[in-house]
Amino acid sequence: MALHQGALAILENNVGVSDAVLLDPMTEEAFLENLQTRFKHNQIYTYIGTVVVSVNPYQNLPLYTPDVIDEYRSRNIYELPPHIYAISDEAYRSMRDRNLDQCVIISGESGAGKTEASKVIMQYVAQVSGKGREIDRVKEQLLQSNPVLEAFGNAKTLRNDNSSRFGKYMDIEFDFKGDPIGGVITNYLLEKSRVASQTPGERNFHIFYQLLAGADSTLLESLKLSSKPDDYGFLNKSGCIKVDTIDDAANFNAVKVGMEVIGFYRDEISQVFQLIASVLKLGNVKFVHRSNPDGTDGCDINSGQEVSDVAQLLGCPAKDLTSALTQRTVEVKREKVKTDFSEEGATYARDALCKAIYSRLFSWLVERINDSIKVKHEQKTKVMGVLDIYGFEVFKTNNFEQFIINYCNEKLQQIFIELTLKEEQEEYIRESIEWIHVDYFNNAVICDLIEKNNVGILALLDEQCLLPGNVTDKTFLEKLNQKCKDHPHYESRALRKNQSDRTLPHDAFRLKHYAGSVTYKVDGFIDKNNDLLYRDLSQAMYACNHKLIRKLFPEGNPSQKSLKRPPTAGSQFKVSVQALMKNLLSKNPNYIRCVKPNDDKSAGVLDLDIVKHQVRYLGLMENIRVKRAGYAFRQVYAQFLYRYKMLADETWPSWSGDAVEGIKYIIANQGIPDDEIAFGKSKIFIRNPKTLFDLEGQRRERMHFLATLIQKVWRGRVKRQHFLLMKRSQVIISSRFRGYWGQKQYKRKKQATLVLQCGTRRWKARKVLAELKYQRRLLLAAIFCQKLRRGVQARKLLAELKLQKRMEWAVTVIHKYYMGWKVRKNYKPKFRRIAGPKVARFFVTALKRKFLFDVRDNLPSLSPVDNKWPTSPKMYKDASDQLQVLHHRWRCRKYRKKLSEFQKYTLREKLTASALFKDKKVIYPESVPIPFKGDYLDLRGDLKWKKIQSITSEINLVFADLVYKVNRNDGKIVQQLLVVSSQALLVIDHKTMILKYRIPIEYIDKISLSPYQDKLAVFHLKKPQNGDNFAKKGDFIIGNEHIIEIVTKAALCVRNQTNNMPEIHVGPQCNGQFGNTSVQVSFQQGVKGLETGLAGVKVTRKKKMMLISEP
Ligand SMILES: Nc1ncnc2c1ncn2[C@@H]1O[C@H](COP(=O)(O)OP(=O)(O)OP(=O)(O)O)[C@@H](O)[C@H]1O
Ligand SMILES: [Mg+2]
Repeated sequence: MALHQGALAILENNVGVSDAVLLDPMTEEAFLENLQTRFKHNQIYTYIGTVVVSVNPYQNLPLYTPDVIDEYRSRNIYELPPHIYAISDEAYRSMRDRNLDQCVIISGESGAGKTEASKVIMQYVAQVSGKGREIDRVKEQLLQSNPVLEAFGNAKTLRNDNSSRFGKYMDIEFDFKGDPIGGVITNYLLEKSRVASQTPGERNFHIFYQLLAGADSTLLESLKLSSKPDDYGFLNKSGCIKVDTIDDAANFNAVKVGMEVIGFYRDEISQVFQLIASVLKLGNVKFVHRSNPDGTDGCDINSGQEVSDVAQLLGCPAKDLTSALTQRTVEVKREKVKTDFSEEGATYARDALCKAIYSRLFSWLVERINDSIKVKHEQKTKVMGVLDIYGFEVFKTNNFEQFIINYCNEKLQQIFIELTLKEEQEEYIRESIEWIHVDYFNNAVICDLIEKNNVGILALLDEQCLLPGNVTDKTFLEKLNQKCKDHPHYESRALRKNQSDRTLPHDAFRLKHYAGSVTYKVDGFIDKNNDLLYRDLSQAMYACNHKLIRKLFPEGNPSQKSLKRPPTAGSQFKVSVQALMKNLLSKNPNYIRCVKPNDDKSAGVLDLDIVKHQVRYLGLMENIRVKRAGYAFRQVYAQFLYRYKMLADETWPSWSGDAVEGIKYIIANQGIPDDEIAFGKSKIFIRNPKTLFDLEGQRRERMHFLATLIQKVWRGRVKRQHFLLMKRSQVIISSRFRGYWGQKQYKRKKQATLVLQCGTRRWKARKVLAELKYQRRLLLAAIFCQKLRRGVQARKLLAELKLQKRMEWAVTVIHKYYMGWKVRKNYKPKFRRIAGPKVARFFVTALKRKFLFDVRDNLPSLSPVDNKWPTSPKMYKDASDQLQVLHHRWRCRKYRKKLSEFQKYTLREKLTASALFKDKKVIYPESVPIPFKGDYLDLRGDLKWKKIQSITSEINLVFADLVYKVNRNDGKIVQQLLVVSSQALLVIDHKTMILKYRIPIEYIDKISLSPYQDKLAVFHLKKPQNGDNFAKKGDFIIGNEHIIEIVTKAALCVRNQTNNMPEIHVGPQCNGQFGNTSVQVSFQQGVKGLETGLAGVKVTRKKKMMLISEP
């Protein structure tokens, strides 16, 4: 086998035959010798086809360094010496590149190196897969789960210092790139009986010793522990505490680091240690016998300190814990009664509790780890599963646990047989390939003996457990003897065929496993299968104040009434093993068959007998024979053709004919000899792996070539497209640029022209401006000269005039002086006599003149209402008053002359109103400045009015407005339209414009008003003459804003018609004639709280009284 050039030294010295299929002669001796030779040269791995046989070296070999991993990375399995890395790589690449889920099944007896092999696989996968913060975190968590689970689930046994006491199947999940993104761990039945007792020379689970050796004094103190394992009943009985190959203290630190890396919270970690401490403490609780007065057995605890320590650790009252440990509740006739445990019973219950706490804690740990390592985001994953389950075990005394462990190993052997021996041989026959059958031992018969429904040992055990009454391990054995007596793999002292076999005790049965006979003591089978815990104990645990312990004992919740029996330990295990088998069968299997070289764990020693035994029961020789006679590789035709179609021109890129024909072209093309290939019914078989690798190599090369070709064409296309795009772009860019450049040039020229134009115009304009400025300067100069000349002339003239004026003044002065002189000369003799009165008169006249001139200059305006008059000296006050009167009259006359006829009529009306109401009616003054409008509703133009006018022949509409008419009977007020015409008063319905009645104006006899604020008037009518219907109802009262105007106008109309003014009575009372009744109408002022009616007026009629009140 060609060794890769760069292989490391350890890989170079290949001795013996690395693939046992190539052995010659192919005998058991040759195979063992080959193993031994290789083993001596530290070559512990040997292939049988693709199965790795691993012999435990019991020493550290330099086989697992990162360099070695790099060497095996992405290499074909036969290129380098056999190694777990090689099949790990094969499985990893097959998963990543072909999308096939993988599983690695590691089998072998206890101490053969399964757990180590599983770690080697994980180490390889961690190194070859991708890198990155998140990926490294996942890898680290997956790797760190090993020390944690080993601490809690492994123990030193006689066969292995680090024996797995639980089964573990770990699925590592990868993303499409092959990077690990999470995982799931499934655990199988922990050997919990080890918690309470161990075979001499064995130890309890590692964690107990690790905690005591590794915890610092503070932690130990808080857990109430001493550091000496000898102090604890669960650790000091087997006589083995220290193991040379194990450093408990260092491992304890590794466990703590591991838990932190995985993501356990600090308080979770301390809770876990509290439970471990509690188990140790509980193991020290001792019971002493007590006889109860009723004759029954009871017990007391003689180590109260331990109980109170546990109670403190778990957070429950010591009293309750004591009670749960020494008594139990039983139901007698539906009544709950507490009965005492005997000393043995209490010890049994205590152990059961410790085992339950520990095994549940272990399951919780696995769940918690799963929680941390699970894939965080939902996505499609590829899986590689690694199965490391407890190996086949034979001890001096074997119990229920060994029975379960060995059953599991039988199942694994079964899978191996199914897939490598049975299925493979059957496939050759199915595919009509020439085949000589290879005989092998099929252990299905033993699996059936154990697990078959209804008749298998597990079913019989369950049946016994369910039977009521006195069921013991002995009755179970009897049942087995009865049902299995004829089975060739079952032996018991009670059976005739084994009666003389003294090696077989009476309380045991023996099974002939594929790996050898094992004698099982039936002691404890029933109890362990039942796996029940007294309800008092689970309730006591649930009642604790400790978060974790409460979680572990959910059935202790008193509100949980379910009395349904939980499935037995055996049936649970059977179900989970069957699920595991199904899972393994659904994946592509890879095998590592571990072999133990000696029973003393010694390095470099290979005991041929021991190895021979394992080689036999593992069926390795049969495996070699089948592999040798058979074919290394097979594949469905279509798939094969699809994978290698590029290796022949005829089949590339596609082949439409029969797949076998296509494949024949490929084979011929590659020059593969005929005996290398066999054509089955649906598959092609290739004998030698080398042929396949050659094909793969060719494929890779061809793929490389094709990829380059595709790349070439693709790049050419991309480049061409890019070129065309560039060309198109270049045309666009250059056209745009030219356009832009032309535009720019044009703008520049335009700009330059404008500049030139501007310059020229500016030059011209400047020239014109200079011309204009010159002319203007000339003009200004001329004007200036003119001004100067005129100034000279004017000053000359002024001087002349001034001179003339001075001369005139001088003449006047001289004349005055002369005249004065003359007068004085003439009047000198008369002057003294008449001078006084003359001067006085002169002054008086001057004052009068001044007064009159002042009045003339300060006369007031011509408005008759303007009261201003200039002030006068006291002595002319009378004259001033008279002058004012005269002036007023004069301007009044002037004003009157300017008035139109209409204005005069209006003023006459106002004058009449003044005569009638001035100083009589309070509201009169406010009516004075408001002009009398008369037709407030513009009725004169209204068609309906015109119609009424034509019917009644009214000549002139004097007044029209809505008025309030007071009902004569009850004083209620309604609105009506009142029209005063020159001939009559008309009352009209304002809504319908229907004339209600018409009163000729001459019938108005008198009109009465109050002197107060109200705006009401009582119209008194003359007594009706015969036939005068309109006046029958009598006098009426109306109210309106313009009552002064109405009364004035009505009175004037009456005077015009009759030449007599009607009587206008203003007073607080009047007599009204309402119909035939004479009523006294009184006006009352100052009534409080009045708000209704017309302008706050309230009218009330009481018989012959009508009271009109106003506020
Ligand atoms: N490849 C190896 N190189 C060095 N030592 C090994 C190797 N494989 C196994 N050993 C040693 O053998 C011991 C037992 O191996 P391991 O625990 O893997 O056995 P196992 O098959 O898992 O046994 P069990 O079924 O009891 O769990 C290890 O503790 C280690 O000392
Ligand atoms: Mg193991």
